[in-house]
Amino acid sequence: MADERIIENEALENATSENVQYDDNYEQEKFLKKRAEQIELDKNKPFDPEALLEVRHLRKSFPIKKNMFGKVLQELVAVDDVSFTLKKGETLGIVGESGCGKTTMGRTILKLHPSNGGQIIFDGKDITNYKPSQMRDIRREMQIIFQDPYSSLPPRSTVGGILSEPVEVHKIVPKSQRREYVLELMDKCGLRDYYYERYPHEFSGGQRQRICIARALSVNPKLVVCDEPVSALDVSIQAQIINLLKNLQESMGLTYLFISHDLSVVKFISDKIGVMYLGSMMEFGRKEDIFSNPLHPYTKALFSAIPNPNPDEKMNRIPLTGDIPSPANPPKGCRFHTRCPYAKEICKHVVPEYKEYENGHFAACHLI
Ligand SMILES: Nc1ncnc2c1ncn2[C@@H]1O[C@H](COP(=O)(O)OP(=O)(O)OP(=O)(O)O)[C@@H](O)[C@H]1O
Ligand code: SF4
Ligand SMILES: [Mg+2]
Repeated sequence: MADERIIENEALENATSENVQYDDNYEQEKFLKKRAEQIELDKNKPFDPEALLEVRHLRKSFPIKKNMFGKVLQELVAVDDVSFTLKKGETLGIVGESGCGKTTMGRTILKLHPSNGGQIIFDGKDITNYKPSQMRDIRREMQIIFQDPYSSLPPRSTVGGILSEPVEVHKIVPKSQRREYVLELMDKCGLRDYYYERYPHEFSGGQRQRICIARALSVNPKLVVCDEPVSALDVSIQAQIINLLKNLQESMGLTYLFISHDLSVVKFISDKIGVMYLGSMMEFGRKEDIFSNPLHPYTKALFSAIPNPNPDEKMNRIPLTGDIPSPANPPKGCRFHTRCPYAKEICKHVVPEYKEYENGHFAACHLI
């Protein structure tokens, strides 16, 4: 194998021998028992004082088949045992193919979906079981920007109305200062003051996304989940919006969870990167570590597909063959094994442990 990160030693050879017989039920029970123990252990861990967001073993499933009494017969686990820490002022980029659970994870963290397991610790508080009344203040501190700026703005309100409403609801400034506050925010977001009286349909996609950004920031949030905020925009506009988000982050001290398909965008904006596949985190770490030294074969395959602007440099492409399996019925063992070019017998039966390999660099693969 060309990659020297995939260590060849006797122990590994034994573990990955193609002759070992595996009992799938036994392996599954062993894995579940170990995971339950780890979840219990982590519950009592102190919160990281530097983190704005700590996610521990987060799980979100959707029922997809029920019997006539409403009992769930089959569920789709969209987010399965995801853990990470995001420090104040940082950006965490989440990448992965369509359907891997990026949006569901973002929405579950914001408690727009109820979670089915794990902990969400926001700004030093465990909000996992907060009731809607307890979430009222926290809601203001956690905002979301959606992919589609066309459908996310009310068509019958002016820009001034759209931006004033959350400022009024959350009592951000006294009524007498509201208009001035909104105009200042518009200016920060690159919107001219005469847009105040205009309606969303009068604007281009890029301008509408600026309005969405201004609306999210109008309530002084701490965390902003940006769910594919530039995917629906022209390439020429994408860079402007990304730069705007980056500048606003610096001036307002924001923390971003930035979801995107586009690895070049994620590389530009992120401090940390999480790579998801079929609901699980495959690799997580600082941007520099993930790009200069990707550990997981899935990360390597994704990165190898980034076009290289230098025609003289040879591309070492790792092909991702086969369809993405259904998250309602993920493969046993390593869920990437049906598409992994390095898969061994062990990968089909035993779930690889999600381990820290270097400081803050995690991955789940038997061959690392
Ligand atoms: N409300 C729901 N009910 C049932 N299944 C759902 C629901 N919402 C999402 N899913 C499923 O959960 C999985 C993850 O979906 P999600 O939208 O989070 O993926 P994504 O990574 O954001 O994809 P994309 O890149 O296409 O936006 C998918 O299989 C999806 O079909
Ligand atoms: S554990 Fe998964 S990612 Fe690692 S070699 Fe096996 S199939 Fe590939
Ligand atoms: Mg999505």
